[in-house]
Amino acid sequence: MKTIHTAFLGLGNVGCGVYRLLDMQKEAFASRSDLAFSVDRILVRDLDRPRRVKVSRDRLTVDVDEIVNDPDITLVAEFMGGIEPAATYMERMLLAGKSVVTANKQALANAWPRLSAAAMKTGAGLYFEASVCGGIPVIETLLSSLQSNRVESIMGIINGTCNYILSRMSEGMEYEDALAEAQEKGLAEPDPTADVEGADATCKLAILSTLAFGKSVTVDDVYCEGISSLTREALQFGADMGYTLKSLAVAKEKDGRLQLHVHPAFLPNRHPIASVSGAYNAVYIRGNAVEDIMLSGKGAGDMPTASSVVSDMVKVATRQVHPAVDFQESNRPYLDEDWICGNFLCLHVEDKSGVMAKLFGILSHYGLSAASVTQPRRAEKAERVPVIVTTYPCREQAMRAALVDIRALPEVGSVLRIRMEEME
Ligand SMILES: NC(=O)c1ccc[n+]([C@@H]2O[C@H](COP(=O)([O-])OP(=O)(O)OC[C@H]3O[C@@H](n4cnc5c(N)ncnc54)[C@H](OP(=O)(O)O)[C@@H]3O)[C@@H](O)[C@H]2O)c1
Repeated sequence: MKTIHTAFLGLGNVGCGVYRLLDMQKEAFASRSDLAFSVDRILVRDLDRPRRVKVSRDRLTVDVDEIVNDPDITLVAEFMGGIEPAATYMERMLLAGKSVVTANKQALANAWPRLSAAAMKTGAGLYFEASVCGGIPVIETLLSSLQSNRVESIMGIINGTCNYILSRMSEGMEYEDALAEAQEKGLAEPDPTADVEGADATCKLAILSTLAFGKSVTVDDVYCEGISSLTREALQFGADMGYTLKSLAVAKEKDGRLQLHVHPAFLPNRHPIASVSGAYNAVYIRGNAVEDIMLSGKGAGDMPTASSVVSDMVKVATRQVHPAVDFQESNRPYLDEDWICGNFLCLHVEDKSGVMAKLFGILSHYGLSAASVTQPRRAEKAERVPVIVTTYPCREQAMRAALVDIRALPEVGSVLRIRMEEME
């Protein structure tokens, strides 16, 4: 039997899940692959913290050098989180010839070229299935299964916290209550900013797009809007028109240029990912040969994430070669203002004649056409009445310019603009 001497960097949620799964599957690894994993060292911050798994104290360490300098350890699994020191520790492991498996999207999205260079220098492997969408094998799909295709677009629900909050809002909850409930259930961090303002999804979209389009995409290339300014009222109005609101990560190649957005958007209810609700994730990929495929499942959680980490560990142990990632710099601009989509405008306007004429005057001035105008039910004695205007697909630049003028109208109170992604 071949024993793979392993070290962990971190023993929190994911680390404990990986530790448990390695134990649960040990007979299967032995019988299927004649393989055993031995977790020799585990780096933590606090040696005395109670752990959810039983680990002998002498295997824990706070000194990363003990792992770097241990020649028996050939595989290191990282689930510390954050960019630093995680990225530097992984780089040191790779330079020491140890293969690295990571669940850390932040470190990967921000330090990928440096990690990849270190891996190439020593021939060590860098594996990261768990860094995007937890248990869903989307990295393997892009790296291997779709090698025969040119990927044309990706549309994903890749942040479970946002999806949970929006699902609860569509059931009638206000944003703050849905967020508080997500925090109570452990689906949102005490500080939810990275999830609800889109930074988490931005890292994941940068990773997916780099693989899908073979270009070095960084987090700065992704335009990002969060969900914290959305209202239950707007969700309900959209639902009445047959749309579901999702926080989407979208990447598409258009006229030789990449366009990358993380933003909330209405999808027609018939879209396959519109029905993916709660903390679930989904990724919808369009390839030139395969056409449309969809992967969905749990995008977080200790055991789903451990599923991806341990599968990567088995790949390292059985020497399954990870295709190299091309890190040529892209010379193509990422033009956010060229984004084309329909728009859903939820306005509150004074209920007097001439207001709608002014509104349509502005839309027409910027070459925008209204696809529908609806005046939903109004609250008794409300000073302003809600009006929903949807537009036909138009350029981002024109919509933004029109919004500046619409917001300047004295008769217009709040204006909430939500993009509409149609099925092509
Ligand atoms: N949780 C999920 O469902 C999930 C899903 C997919 C991906 N991920 C990713 O997996 C990673 C870990 O997430 P998690 O939820 O397991 O985090 P966590 O519960 O906070 O665990 C982090 C672990 O890393 C250790 N650690 C952190 N900084 C350290 C440092 N500077 N030196 C030594 N040890 C350090 C901590 O040690 P102590 O215990 O001693 O403090 C802890 O054991 C993150 O990158 C996350 O984005 C998580």
